[in-house]
Amino acid sequence: MCGIVGIVGNQPVSERLVDALKRLEYRGYDSAGVATVIGGKLERRRAEGKLVNLEIRLREEPLAGTIGIAHTRWATHGAPTERNAHPHFTDGVAVVHNGIIENFAELKDELIASGAKFETDTDTEVVAHLLSKFRREGLGRREAMHAMLKRVTGAYALAVLFQDDPSTIMAARNGPPLAIGHGRGEMFLGSDAIALAPFTNEITYLIDGDWAVIGANGVHIFDLDGNVVDRPKQLSTAAAYMIDKGNHRHFMEKEIYEQPEVIAHALSHYIDFAGNRIKALSGTIDFAKIPSLAISACGTAYLAGLVGKYWFERYARLPVEIDVASEFRYREIPLPSEAAALFISQSGETADTLASLRYCKELGLKIGAVVNTRESTIARESDAVFPILAGPEIGVASTKAFTCQLAVLASLAIGAGRARGTVSAEEEQVLVRYLAEMPRIMGQVLNAVQPKIELLSRELSKCRDVLYLGRGTSFPLAMEGALKLKEISYIHAEGYAAGELKHGPIALIDENMPVIVIAPHDRFYEKTVSNMQEVAARGGRIILITDEKGAAASKLETMATIVLPDVDEVIAPMIFSLPIQLLAYHTAVFMGTDVDQPRNLAKSVTVE
Ligand code: F6R
Repeated sequence: MCGIVGIVGNQPVSERLVDALKRLEYRGYDSAGVATVIGGKLERRRAEGKLVNLEIRLREEPLAGTIGIAHTRWATHGAPTERNAHPHFTDGVAVVHNGIIENFAELKDELIASGAKFETDTDTEVVAHLLSKFRREGLGRREAMHAMLKRVTGAYALAVLFQDDPSTIMAARNGPPLAIGHGRGEMFLGSDAIALAPFTNEITYLIDGDWAVIGANGVHIFDLDGNVVDRPKQLSTAAAYMIDKGNHRHFMEKEIYEQPEVIAHALSHYIDFAGNRIKALSGTIDFAKIPSLAISACGTAYLAGLVGKYWFERYARLPVEIDVASEFRYREIPLPSEAAALFISQSGETADTLASLRYCKELGLKIGAVVNTRESTIARESDAVFPILAGPEIGVASTKAFTCQLAVLASLAIGAGRARGTVSAEEEQVLVRYLAEMPRIMGQVLNAVQPKIELLSRELSKCRDVLYLGRGTSFPLAMEGALKLKEISYIHAEGYAAGELKHGPIALIDENMPVIVIAPHDRFYEKTVSNMQEVAARGGRIILITDEKGAAASKLETMATIVLPDVDEVIAPMIFSLPIQLLAYHTAVFMGTDVDQPRNLAKSVTVE
């Protein structure tokens, strides 16, 4: 994580750098800093905590300069203090970094032995010291940069300023993304194209191993051997949107309420509404021919994948191997080269997901990316891109991206079923009609459940632990409910398959721990009711999230019952996501936590 930006031009840069950092704050908000070169001297301002603290600092002590680099940090090595905030300065060099320098301990010992004095606990500082050392040894700036890159291992997106060159920023990429923006008499650098959107839409992406010398009128790009390389200029589709909550208190709330609209938009990409068919996904993965499918992702995106597994197996009779990407990448899973693999990622930059993708690519599998950011690394390295079209998601807790991922996976699974002959044309029409109804039902549910959920959240905010249960596709949803609650309210929560209750978690049941049961009236309903009875018999407090048929059939006393409209199984996961998102959101609001930027988290996880 961490976000980096740079501008080299002819106008003052510090305000614009902070403006660009605002669009990168989703990548981390532990500290922020900016550095410029003024009159042959490096200057910087840094502040602990959110970007607003840096803005205050800059108002007190403005920073001039027409060249600069800036950083917003998600701490890996070293506490989130001002002392550890980037940019790091050594003798004549300023560095900002996103990633982890894996051999920093060894380099640090070596540099200390040769007289370097370290001021921070970060891994990044070795980069600055190496550059200073190479300069003192007589290397030119480019030679020093090249020599430094030959010494460091790990993941990095780097931007470097040299005090004795007020007209050039140097940059390098190995892992985390780095975009170079082309302006008129100015050039830009950023962790993504959205950061640069107000400045330019002409973008050149560096690829792993590239490093660049950026001046006001252009860029020279080199590979690790020092050869000049050519990378294409592309027009970015990242809109120059300004972050805006509208009438909502938080981005998360806005994004929850945007779901009917964005789902409709996503579906229109995959569904031919006139013909009630899934659009042909020609030129992409041939689902008719593959023997199996692998799916990998992290966090909420993984849970979307888990729901997808149920759908691909049910509708397309396609065996699915799925795991969290941090395990998938190292499991040495034997996968047939004729198979396909799907990688699900809102950001498209998650390091473990990308590594899993590369593992499958090496085995020769066809690669599909289910991503929100079409210009992301995961999208660019895939054979087929399935955009989720959720629009920018700013709240760190994923909401609309999750339901859009589900909508896309449902469409793909039904399309795959058609291609494999396991879903008939009539069945496809029926399923597509259900999907098409989803935006309307979502709008209805969001309006209907809000008051009850707000009341219930007050109760939940007093609890220490919460258990979520579900069966079938409601099982991943139970895990998603627990993940959402813990990440923004900091209440401990677990999601379990309802059938697993008696194999351990039942020991936790008492009158203090609410058990949230997600139970649409589907083919698992009766079984889930039996599990609820086991909870009730032990004095557990049940919050039942069900539909009208389920509510009518339930004879159990509950702490609360949230009743949704009766919907088909294929859209139930998206509809039932809404109350669990709202429950987490309102509980966090009652607790007064930082809903959009919960502690210790970042939106884009570009380190292992
Ligand atoms: C939770 C959440 C995370 C992400 C995970 C993967 O609300 O947002 O668990 O889902 O970090 O991120 P992407 O989808 O960007 O790969």
